Amino acid sequence: MTQVFSRIAGTGSYLPEKVLTNDDLSKIVDTSDEWIRTRTGIRERHVAAEGETTSDLAYHASVRALEAAGVDAKDLDLIVLGTTTPDLIFPSTACLLQHRLGADGCAAFDVNAACSGFIFALTVADKFIRSGAAKTVLVVGSETLTRMVDWTERTSCVLFGDGAGAVVLKADSEAGILSTHLHADGGKKELLWNPVGVSVGFKPEEPNCGVRINMSGNDVFKYAVKALDSVVEETLEANGLDRHDIDWLIPHQANLRIIEATAKRLDMPMDRVIVTVDRHGNTSSGSVPLALDEAVRSGKIQRGQLLLLEAFGGGFTWGAALLRY
Ligand code: COA
Repeated sequence: MTQVFSRIAGTGSYLPEKVLTNDDLSKIVDTSDEWIRTRTGIRERHVAAEGETTSDLAYHASVRALEAAGVDAKDLDLIVLGTTTPDLIFPSTACLLQHRLGADGCAAFDVNAACSGFIFALTVADKFIRSGAAKTVLVVGSETLTRMVDWTERTSCVLFGDGAGAVVLKADSEAGILSTHLHADGGKKELLWNPVGVSVGFKPEEPNCGVRINMSGNDVFKYAVKALDSVVEETLEANGLDRHDIDWLIPHQANLRIIEATAKRLDMPMDRVIVTVDRHGNTSSGSVPLALDEAVRSGKIQRGQLLLLEAFGGGFTWGAALLRY
C-alpha cells in the first residue's frame, strides 16, 4: 500500500485594516517606540475593527488559501481552526467559518493551544490525511487577541496584534509534511494565562469581566527559548537531518530576540528566517500561517524547499512541523 502524506496546496492570510504603531501606543501607556523595538522587534500591529471577529479574519484568509489551492470549499473534508479567541463559546469558530464558506457537512472543530494553535491544528489535519480519514483539509490560525489585552498594562499590551492565516492540505503520495512534534506543560499555566472562563467564572466587577492576558514576560521568554531549542533538535533528529538542511525557518512571531535565539541554535542566517513580528506583533495562532503566506506570495519560499515551522504559547504548549513545500 502506498503511503499517504499531506501537502500544502495553497496558503492565504488576512490582516485587519487598522494599524496601531508604537507611537500610537505611547499615547495610551507609558512606553516608547525605542523600548518596544529594542525589546521585541515590534514596530506596529493590526487591530480588528469594532464588530470584526476571529471568524471574519479566518474567512478572508481561508478564501485566499482556497483560491491559491484551486479548491472549492464544497470539496473540503475537514476544517481545523486554531484559536484562543473564538467568536463565541459555542458553536466553534470552525463551524461559523464552515457555514460562511459554504462547506456545510464536513467535520469542523477548533483547537485551543494558545499561540501554538496553528501547529497543533496542522498536526491534527496531517494525522487525518495520513490515516485516510480526509483528503482535503483547511487548516486555519485566527485570532483577535487585542480583545483580551489590558490597554493599561504596558508590559503586555505592546506585544499583541490581530490576524489570520490558512493553508489547504491535500493528500499526496509525496511528502509534504514530514513530521510534527507537540508538547505541553500545564504546570506553568500561571506564567501566561487568561484566568477567567465559563466554568471558573468571570469577574463582572473588573474591566472586560476580568478577561485579560496575564504574563510573566521574563519567565516566558526563558522557557520559550529552551523549549523551542529542544523541539527543533527533536525534529531534526527524527528526520535524520542536519540543521544546515533547512531552507527556511518560519517561527512563531512573538519576539525578535526569541526568533534570533532559535536561528542561532540552527546556525541559520537571519535572511533565511521569515520575520513579520515587526509589522504584525504577536498574532498567536495567526502568526505562523501569516508568515508562511507572506513568504510564499513574495516568492521567497519555492516549491521543493524544506521548511521548519515552530511555535510556543500559553499552557505552556509548543511544537514544530517539518515539511517539504
Ligand atoms: N515600555 C517601557 N518600559 C517597559 C515596558 C514598556 N512597554 N514594559 C516593561 N517596561 C519596563 C519594566 O517596568 C522594567 O522597568 P524597571 O527595570 O524599572 O522595573 C523594565 O522595562 C524591564 O522590564 P522586563 O520585564 O525585565 O523587560 P524584558 O527585557 O524582560 O522585556 C518582554 C519584557 C515582555 C518584552 C519580554 O520579557 C518578552 O518578550 N517576553 C516574552 C513574552 C512573549 O513572547 N509572550 C508570548 C509568548 S507566546
